Amino acid sequence: MDDTAPTSDTLRNLRHRRGDYGVDGDFAVVSARGQAVIVAAILFVLVAVAVGAAVAGSYAGAVVAAVLAVAWALFVGSYLYTTLIGKFRVWAGVLAGLGLRGDERVLDLGCGRGALLLMVAALLPRGRAVGIDVWRADQTGNGPEATRRNAELEGVADRVELETGDITRLPFADASFDVVVSNLVLHNISDAGARRAALDKAVRVLRPGGRVLIGDLMHTGEYRDRLRELGLTDARRRGLGPRMW
Ligand SMILES: C[S@@+](CC[C@H](N)C(=O)[O-])C[C@H]1O[C@@H](n2cnc3c(N)ncnc32)[C@H](O)[C@@H]1O
Repeated sequence: MDDTAPTSDTLRNLRHRRGDYGVDGDFAVVSARGQAVIVAAILFVLVAVAVGAAVAGSYAGAVVAAVLAVAWALFVGSYLYTTLIGKFRVWAGVLAGLGLRGDERVLDLGCGRGALLLMVAALLPRGRAVGIDVWRADQTGNGPEATRRNAELEGVADRVELETGDITRLPFADASFDVVVSNLVLHNISDAGARRAALDKAVRVLRPGGRVLIGDLMHTGEYRDRLRELGLTDARRRGLGPRMW
């Protein structure tokens, strides 16, 4: 191993984060607090119906309401697990398998508060982790100040750069990154043409032989096909498991 490469301790500790990375979601119309109240109210109503039905002797109704309450609690719990814990564990494994030397330039598309960006930065003692974002309400407390604060907390601020901008119009030179990563971002772009534009730009800024890693909830077959059209002929799609919802 060369002496700039991440140590096995760094790789092992990747999943233990010190920063505050917020909760993913769409908070543009209804705030996170409002959504939490709605989620709790639905659960409360389902439990109340189950109890009420049982007291009234309607056991079938009680069972149906109880099953719905449990399903709802599991759904919300698995969502929170993914956003607060799961995505860090999944990406820690993915990044550990990348075999980075430690001196690469890595771009994170839609870095938000830095969940993925700062894990990457931990693996780049002599490199650069660049994050670009428009800081939409797709994450609680989203903004460059929150990301900078997290970079300080993780001890990687010296190798992190933040850019405010749209990933469909990347303001970086051609072939200027060794790796491009992105997590839970592209599906937020509703227009398929704009998603394609983001992939086109990702490949434009990638040096020959570089790698692109995209984690997302949907459209992943579309990303693979476009990356292949753009010349990344070995682009593959794989599941990231239940920890990624
Ligand atoms: C759900 S958050 C995920 C953030 C981060 N990748 C993570 O895993 O924690 C989605 C992020 O994508 C950003 N985003 C959405 N559309 C974007 C666009 N067109 N250009 C740049 N950033 C965008 C949002 O501002 C938000 O920070």
